[in-house]
Amino acid sequence: MNKKVILDVDTGVDDALGIILAVQSGELELLAVTTVNGNVSLKQATENTCKILQLLQVEQQIPVIKGADKPLMRTPVFEHRVHGTEGLGGALGSMPVYTPAAEGFAPDFIIDQVRQYPGEVTLVMTAPLTNLALALMKRPQLAHEVKEVIFMGGVVKGVGNVTPVAEYNMYVDPEAAKIVLHAGFPSLTLVGLDVTRRALLNEAHIKELGDTPISRYVHESTAHYRRLYFERNQVRACALHDPLAVGVALRPELVTTQAYYVDIETRSELCDGQTVCDFQNRLRRKPNVKVCTEVDAEAFLHFFVQVLKT
Ligand code: BDR
Ligand code: CA
Repeated sequence: MNKKVILDVDTGVDDALGIILAVQSGELELLAVTTVNGNVSLKQATENTCKILQLLQVEQQIPVIKGADKPLMRTPVFEHRVHGTEGLGGALGSMPVYTPAAEGFAPDFIIDQVRQYPGEVTLVMTAPLTNLALALMKRPQLAHEVKEVIFMGGVVKGVGNVTPVAEYNMYVDPEAAKIVLHAGFPSLTLVGLDVTRRALLNEAHIKELGDTPISRYVHESTAHYRRLYFERNQVRACALHDPLAVGVALRPELVTTQAYYVDIETRSELCDGQTVCDFQNRLRRKPNVKVCTEVDAEAFLHFFVQVLKT
């Protein structure tokens, strides 16, 4: 039986690739794709998500449900610089949205589905954690009703990608992340920049995808991202941050995890959004997070390419 999954996104170049991986794998029962403010506005993220499902011709099977249009307490911080004005790196600009988002509000949808299938739902979060925090505020016991949560966010040993110390998803809504980190989930996996920065999709991988609507989309949507990554890191590639979180749901053996106590900074001028991992258990707190410390990047990229080729 396929895993029941709700994928929460702020589509975004790499979110889109995460959606494609999830759908094309054929191994997940996607209950819905829920959207949230993040890389782009909620409206834009929702439209982009609908377009990706249309590209994959699954828009009739998988509902898109809108969530929060802003962080819990802060003003939005868009990432147009990285993802382009509309969020897909300029791709699918002329595609009309002919199957719009379904009725409903993502946090309520998450609560309903988890109540309907207790112990069965995996939440894969590849955006600021606002929707899940809102769901937990309404129903704290949700933490004990979901099967597991896998989220792309944070960085425990390396540098940040928005500020010197903060990763984008954590930086945008650190208050939401704090609620999620302290909710008491029995299985909460952090897929941070420490591992996602090693999952680099390059030109050769894209060539391997052949010539299909998906490969053409991947080539076009990642072109700007790959150029930008080169300017920063001297490597021409697209970091598969969000797809790796989906990859962990599909193939957990691709990563090594270790249980640690992790908290997030919310009251600092310089360090808001920093994920602080207590490697030496100095705070004497019970571990709350399974932190991905290693990834078999080559195996993941191979898997990604094979799935997108099919
Ligand atoms: C994360 O931030 C967003 O810009 C990406 O979509 C990804 O979820 C990487 O830090
Ligand atoms: Ca994202």
